[in-house]
Amino acid sequence: MTQSSRSVASPRVVNIADLREIAFRRTPAAVFDYLDGGAEGEVTLRENCRVFEDVTFRPRQAVAFAECNFRTRVLGYDLALPFMLAPVGYSRMMHPAGEVAAARAAGTAGTAYILSTISGYQLEEVKAASTGPVFYQLYLMGGREAAESTLERARVAGFAALVVTVDTAVSGIRERDYRNGMRELVSGGPFDKIPFLPHILSHPRWLISFLLDGGLPALPNVVIPGKGPMKLIDVAAALAESTVTWSDLTWIRKVWKGPIIVKGVLTADDAQRSADEGAAAIVVSNHGGRQLDCVPSSLRVLPEIAKAVSGQTEVLMDGGIRRGSDVIKALCLGARAVLCGRAYAYGLAAAGEAGINRAIEILLADLDRTMRLLGCASVAELDRSYVNVPSSWHAD
Ligand code: GLV
Repeated sequence: MTQSSRSVASPRVVNIADLREIAFRRTPAAVFDYLDGGAEGEVTLRENCRVFEDVTFRPRQAVAFAECNFRTRVLGYDLALPFMLAPVGYSRMMHPAGEVAAARAAGTAGTAYILSTISGYQLEEVKAASTGPVFYQLYLMGGREAAESTLERARVAGFAALVVTVDTAVSGIRERDYRNGMRELVSGGPFDKIPFLPHILSHPRWLISFLLDGGLPALPNVVIPGKGPMKLIDVAAALAESTVTWSDLTWIRKVWKGPIIVKGVLTADDAQRSADEGAAAIVVSNHGGRQLDCVPSSLRVLPEIAKAVSGQTEVLMDGGIRRGSDVIKALCLGARAVLCGRAYAYGLAAAGEAGINRAIEILLADLDRTMRLLGCASVAELDRSYVNVPSSWHAD
């Protein structure tokens, strides 16, 4: 057993916050803050987590059952858990095992993994690592031509669905990344990096594994015709030019014949528009508080959106999930399943695949305990009758 897996299996790692703490200690500030931080004043980042405190449970007491059923269906795929692993950019920077480890851990747990466009591994390798469904998250970086060849590769590799992120008209400003020199470190020249090196050098163990992994590669899944994989130095500018519009979505639907999930919906109108445009599912999401700051938490707008489009498209959500009880609250308020991003990425940064497995184990144990204390044997039965919401939410 490696040092890493020993420490995440420790009884002291009781919750996701404990994994976060280990990730904080083991990675340089630039890496940890990229994962942990949000846009501008981080109002939405904080609110995504805080809002779960506003929703309380209405348990049914004196109920016992032998087994809890966590199974849910997303796009026709039978998932053993009501949470999936969300797309997380630059996972390979958090730990060399990166996206491959996340896909494998999701498959082992019986759930889906969503691969970010900003991946350090070839999409084929990631798909091959998982025994479960794998979805591809698309940014139109590099334009339609680059996207078309990626989508063809994803189809051939057997990706089950496409997740189109619609909340990145430009990249949100993550102030921590500026302070830590994330841009200089990822794509700058040697002299640009110098002011930011002390933080990196103070984490020799991370640095050695990063260097042994060959550093961050050019993006293997964004191949620019005639030029090859997109260089990291071009990523920021490419993201800024890669806004997905409704007309792009129409084009994407022509190119990608499989199901499409629209991610980044925060209003009932956009949810309806997504359903009308043929989205098989939507993700109620504010991009983990990393894009437009001061938008509402995902949980707060979930009931309104679920009410507007239920029966027309599947409703998923992400943002702020750190406990199994958070998953249950989201399900009670209308989500079919949730996406966890930071919750498993802290585990990845803390200890690679063992850390992701520990994060999943923690959430699963939480789910089991909470369902039993709630007196509900199956996640399919969760509804609003199991929670109290503030009176100001009642109109939703
Ligand atoms: C990428 O999608 C990011 O939020 O950094």
